[in-house]
Amino acid sequence: MSKLVAFEKMGGRSSLILINKIFYDKVYKHPWLKQYFEHISQQLIENQQVDFMQKVLGGENLYVGKAPPVAHMHIMINEDIFQVRKKLLEEAFIEAQAKPELISKWLSLDNSFKRVIFKDSTAQCKRRFNTDSILDFPNDEKNA
Ligand code: HEM
Repeated sequence: MSKLVAFEKMGGRSSLILINKIFYDKVYKHPWLKQYFEHISQQLIENQQVDFMQKVLGGENLYVGKAPPVAHMHIMINEDIFQVRKKLLEEAFIEAQAKPELISKWLSLDNSFKRVIFKDSTAQCKRRFNTDSILDFPNDEKNA
């Protein structure tokens, strides 16, 4: 089976649009995660993610954005935030009735990207541009 046929069988682009919409609705409402996205519109990040996931899942490559290490170099990403994000993503898969093969491929790709965006401390975060802030917010729910 060709990569493109396999991508369509997993649900194709329309399935990525639906999952990302449900997922980012949750992210933009989440008290901790939403703070990381204040500078960027939900529609823009959804569009970037749909193109990015389409590329890495074997669909047509329309993605012209940054590779994950550069896109996240100013963001403090540790196990805690990765797991909170993953939980919202798993909820989105269920609500969108995503195909099991799409879910397992997506989660395994995310695990590989985790290795290249993970930081042990904020000292490892670097600004991409002078105008960037280092994004690191406390998880108040955990401390409550
Ligand atoms: C394996 C998991 C992840 C993947 C595959 C991923 C993927 C991406 C991609 C493709 C972009 C767009 C890149 C571009 O600007 O061209 C992006 C942006 C972004 N991601 Fe992630 N991400 C992941 C985890 C996270 C986590 C845990 C956070 C924590 C809050 C996060 C926060 C952000 C933010 C804030 C942006 C916008 C950056 C900006 O343009 O200022 N991501 N991500």
